[in-house]
Amino acid sequence: MKKVLGLVISHRKLGNSEILVKEVMNSIPEPCSRELIRLTDLKLEPCNACYRCLEPENDCPIKDDFNFVIRKIREADALVIGVPVYILGPHGCYKMLTDRLLGIQNHVEDTKDKPCVIVIPHGAKGWEGYSKTATLVMPRLLRMKIVDCWEVHATLPGESLLNPDNIKYAQNLGMRIFNDSGYQPGSRECPFCGSDLFRLLSENRLECSICSAQGILKYDNIPDFSEADYCRFSDQELEEHFKGWVANTKTRFLEKKERLKVLQKDYRNKEWWIKP
Ligand SMILES: Cc1cc2nc3c(=O)[nH]c(=O)nc-3n(C[C@H](O)[C@H](O)[C@H](O)COP(=O)(O)O)c2cc1C
Repeated sequence: MKKVLGLVISHRKLGNSEILVKEVMNSIPEPCSRELIRLTDLKLEPCNACYRCLEPENDCPIKDDFNFVIRKIREADALVIGVPVYILGPHGCYKMLTDRLLGIQNHVEDTKDKPCVIVIPHGAKGWEGYSKTATLVMPRLLRMKIVDCWEVHATLPGESLLNPDNIKYAQNLGMRIFNDSGYQPGSRECPFCGSDLFRLLSENRLECSICSAQGILKYDNIPDFSEADYCRFSDQELEEHFKGWVANTKTRFLEKKERLKVLQKDYRNKEWWIKP
């Protein structure tokens, strides 16, 4: 039987993230087991940059709930994420979780091509900010098949229920989660990763802010990516970056360690830290 994991990143009980994640999960027609994690109820520390997770045999050494969460994500056959917009971006716990994925490329066979739905409730029209782009990063690192990245306007706890179109949309996502061919980016979105945020370059060129694919701005500012030959979320680029460049950080550090120690020395006695 398939396993479906819902990941809710909001303290609000019966808030929009929780309700819409549950609606998606409830609408899956295939027989499946369902489990929910409310990330904000768990202990999740910041990454401490020890790089231990880059060794395939190592779990993250931090004593918190991260290893439980990532084990559940790896075991699931589908992931449904509900993450609200907080101050123009996704809820901070989502970024904390994403930061902990430095070593995930060693285990990505577990999550590769599995379906993922992202639901992003936001309270104020026009205040979505960079949320859509930022939420795409985690499932792209996990190399999942993104079925949808759905921004839903709903302010009050459970307010998404007042619009029957939201319920229908969530139900449709559940119905097709295991049979979908994957998110089809719009004409003003990056065709490689789905982001809607671009960096403007010279000569009418532009670059996707997260995957770095480059295109040309054409008539009516529709980007044309037909000549693009790079996307950092491709299998090859992710392998090379995390298992090559990042994994080699230790060697580069050992080479420069003594020189860096000398340069760092002058800053050692400036202990101006304060705590409450
Ligand atoms: C601290 C905080 C910051 C918020 N910032 C934004 C924002 O920048 N843009 C926006 O559209 N909504 C913002 N909202 C509203 C929430 O995104 C909205 O109420 C959403 O439905 C909450 O989802 P939930 O019910 O799953 O918690 C914010 C809410 C809180 C509590």
